[in-house]
Order: sequence, then structure tokens, then C-alpha cells
Amino acid sequence: MSRLLVTGGAGFIGSNFVHYWLDQYPDDLVVVVDALTYAGNLENLAQVQSNPNYRFEHCDINETEKMQTLLRDEAIDVIVNFAAESHVDRSIEGPDAFITANILGTHSLLKAARQVWLIEGANPDNHRFHHVSTDEVYGSLESEEPAFSEQTAYAPNSPYSASKAASDFLVRAYHHTYGMDVTTSNCSNNYGPYHFPEKLIPLVITNILHGKALPIYGDGKNIRDWLYVEDHARGIDLTIKKGRAGETYNIGGWNEWTNIDIVKLVCQLMDKRFASDELLSKRFPECPAAAGLQSETLIEFVRDRAGHDFRYAIDASYSNRELGYEPKVTFEEGIEKTLDWYLSNESWWRAVMDGSYQAWIETNYKAA
Ligand code: NAD
Ligand code: TYD
Repeated sequence: MSRLLVTGGAGFIGSNFVHYWLDQYPDDLVVVVDALTYAGNLENLAQVQSNPNYRFEHCDINETEKMQTLLRDEAIDVIVNFAAESHVDRSIEGPDAFITANILGTHSLLKAARQVWLIEGANPDNHRFHHVSTDEVYGSLESEEPAFSEQTAYAPNSPYSASKAASDFLVRAYHHTYGMDVTTSNCSNNYGPYHFPEKLIPLVITNILHGKALPIYGDGKNIRDWLYVEDHARGIDLTIKKGRAGETYNIGGWNEWTNIDIVKLVCQLMDKRFASDELLSKRFPECPAAAGLQSETLIEFVRDRAGHDFRYAIDASYSNRELGYEPKVTFEEGIEKTLDWYLSNESWWRAVMDGSYQAWIETNYKAA
């Protein structure tokens, strides 16, 4: 039986991980710590609220003493660190929050874990600090370059990826210097339920339903490697259970798409749903499909993101060999499940899409 501290558990991937974990390991304790920034949402955890093996603590990972108290009081033996500022565009507009949450926050958590597990000796031999990182630390690939492996040199390009790279190095240093049992996973772009609608896929889904423009940065040829979020949770599970202390593992989907192709696909899938379900036109009268038009007509090419990385792709063969990791949800299944979720959870996304967020997008990304 494990006792987990999950930071950032009210965010997109963290909340999916909490659902996954309590489903797989119902006897484990899961304590979620989250600062509830704009991206954190307790609704994401509503399903587990009454589970006796789940607790929620509203705090910032930079509150080192609170972290220490939780580690002691809850006898935590596994930390899974999701807490972070995660949106590249926001990191371009205001990098400071990324330095505070991603670098200082991870360091605060490492200090707390070292104090309780190693210095006080609460758990010197049977602990694990798992750090959730991103493929963006490796920089950008050209079309023909091989995908990122664990040997690829770090070359982060955005304030977001630079802050994640710094946090990865701190985690590594706490293993080498203090002997902390750590693992890190570097994952590609996730999609699925509870994804905040400022990221590409949920933004496109919700904008189609509202009949709003679908902003494509630059020429839309940039490439991302998409993974269904539950497969990421499974990869983290395997890393925690089977990963070697001090090691890093790449987790990806073997699923590269250009942005323009993925946006067109979501448009086409949505149009098909409107064609086969009359109720959708009544629920979402502003959607082009409600008037028999194609959702693709909403696509607008806009000013490119500053320093926009061209391509990310993960070579997950090491995780496959060492951990038995492989994605289980095909992209065809995953994208349909995601559409189902957004169509069935209109109240969730309407609540998170308040006016200030839309104003921010419009100020920063006007049509070119
Ligand atoms: P998210 O923005 O949806 O969620 C982040 C969560 O962290 C939110 O609940 C927020 O309130 C919380 N948080 C932020 N700062 C905090 C702090 N100082 N203390 C406590 N809580 C804090 O992000 P996500 O997409 O779920 O990403 C989770 C993690 O996975 C991040 O570390 C991110 O770098 C990494 N990652 C994300 C992706 C992706 O495609 N989204 C891919 C690879 C890795
Ligand atoms: P995003 O979901 O922000 O993830 P990341 O930047 O971490 O990969 O963006 C995915 C891709 O989609 C990225 O190449 C930027 C692009 N993009 C758009 O073209 N338009 C948008 O409105 C957004 C949010 C992203």
C-alpha cells in the first residue's frame, strides 16, 4: 500500500492521474496539494470527493513547511509532482510565474522531502519522488530528425520549457547529491477530459461549438506528438513502480500530427456528430454545422507564437523495453472519447471559460 502526495492534482493531467490511481489502487491514500491557480479546478476531482482514501489540501508547493507537515502527518512515501504553470503562451507574456511555480516550487518540494525522508529519517529507504516533465525540454526537431530519446541534449526554447528543464536538473541533483530516490518522466502533448480550453484541442472543440474563430499560429505546419491522458497516467504508474532511481523515461504517443491537420480532423468529426444528432444543433446554434456549414470555415491563420518550436516527437522505446510502457488508446478512440466528454460536460467548460480568459486570448492573438 502506498501513500501518495499528488501536487497539481486539480489540473488537467493531475486530476486524470488521481482518478486513474484510485481506480487501480483503491487501498492507497492520495493527498492532493493544489494552489488552485486559474488552471486548477476542484470540479475535476468531484468524482473522488467522497472517497475516504482521498484528501485535498489547498496550498502552494512553495510553502515548504506545510509540505513537510503533510509528509510527516500523512506518512507519505510517494510524491508525484505535477504542479506547474503549463501554458507556453502565458510563459511568453509573463515568465515570472513559471520561475516561481516550476523552479522554486519543485525545489521547495525537494527540500521538504529531503528534510522529512532523509534528514529526519522518516523514510530513508522506501520513498519515491516522481517528477512529471515534458518533451519540450529537448527543444525543437526538424522534419527528418529522429524523435527525442533520453540521450537527447536539453535545449529548451520557451520560458516554460526552460523552467521545466531547470526543475528536472534540480530533481537529478537531489538524487546524485543527497541520495534521494527520484524518477522523471518526459511526456509529449496530452489530450482528453478536463483539458483547460486555452490549449489547442479543447480550444478548438469549444470554439467550434460557439462558432468562434479557430486561431492557427503561423502556417499550421508545426508538429506535436499527441497522447491520450490516461496513457500518460499509466506511464507514470509504470515509472513509479518499475523505474530505477535517478532515471528519466520518455513517454509518448507515436502519434505525430501537424496542427492544421488536427484542427481539420476535429472540425470534420464535429460536423459528423451534428449531422447525425439533431439535438446538437439546438444546443449549439452558433456552431456552423447547425446551419449546415463546415466548421473548417472558422479556421483563421494568426500571428505566429514567438520562438514557436517546429516539431516535438518522443521515442518511447526505452520506456517500452524497461517498463513495458506502450500507449493503449488509439488516436481515433481517444479523440472521439474527448469529443464525447466535452459534449457531455458543457457546464464544466462554460464555467472555466470566463470573460477574462477570452479577453486575454483576443489581446494576445489577433488575426494576422
Ligand atoms: P495544468 O495547468 O492543467 O495544471 C497545473 C496544476 O498545478 C493546476 O491545478 C494548478 O492550480 C497547480 N499549480 C500551479 N502552480 C502551483 C503551485 N505553486 N503549487 C501548487 N499547485 C500549483 O497543467 P497540466 O497540463 O495538467 O500539466 C501537469 C504537469 O504535466 C506539468 O508539470 C506539465 O509541465 C506536465 N506536462 C504537461 C503536458 C501537457 O500536454 N499538458 C505534457 C507533458 C508534461
Ligand atoms: P498547445 O496546446 O499550447 O501546446 P504546446 O505549445 O505545449 O505544444 O499548442 C499545441 C500546438 O498548437 C502548438 O504548436 C501551438 C499551436 N496552437 C495554435 O496554433 N493555436 C492555438 O490557439 C493554440 C492554443 C495553439
